[in-house]
Amino acid sequence: MIDIHSHILPGVDDGSRSLEMTKNLLALYREEGVSAVVCTPHQSRELRRAEQLKAQFALLEEKVKDCGVKLYLGAEIYYYDGMLDDLNSGELLTLNGTKYVLVEFSTRNEMAYIPDVVYELSVAGYKPIVAHIERYGYLSLDGWREVKSNGGLIQVNASIFTKKECAKLVKKFMKADLVDFIASDCHNEGSRSVNFSAAKAYVAKKFSERYDKYFGENNIFKD
Ligand SMILES: [Fe+2]
Repeated sequence: MIDIHSHILPGVDDGSRSLEMTKNLLALYREEGVSAVVCTPHQSRELRRAEQLKAQFALLEEKVKDCGVKLYLGAEIYYYDGMLDDLNSGELLTLNGTKYVLVEFSTRNEMAYIPDVVYELSVAGYKPIVAHIERYGYLSLDGWREVKSNGGLIQVNASIFTKKECAKLVKKFMKADLVDFIASDCHNEGSRSVNFSAAKAYVAKKFSERYDKYFGENNIFKD
């Protein structure tokens, strides 16, 4: 299993606060059978600091090199006007230097029409992955179909499968075959930890043929 969305790079965002916490989260990953994790710290217009993130990541890699979980660096980018320019200039990070870009949007109001942003990124040669789409209630199922037809990929959080009401919505998306990745988006050892159990159980029961797709075994770093 590969987790493409996590906040385990310590001390750089609202995720892991220390090397100790990251080590504990890596232990949880091992228990879950996760073999690789992409560290995706937050980036935004105000908080790009690509070089700092790369340096922090190199330090972390060195300190946990025998942990049994392969680490990659990426970012979760909060969409803003001008994001594409900063991606092109290298100020924003893609997933492990590939064309895959994890992007999130405002949850409160529609600052940007998500399908249009996806289109803009796709045309520029990127492969946008929209993070935790269960949060954007303002976009309809047809809107998400447009995201897909514009070249977007869709990620949902594994924790949603433990919440009955939210899970209902995500299951609707899965039935329409709109979901590409289920990821942890883990931040800490408490309420936002690594927990794939409910998601794995649901997928195994209802969509076993898509198990590899959802949990990243179809290594996205190959192309
Ligand atoms: Fe996140």
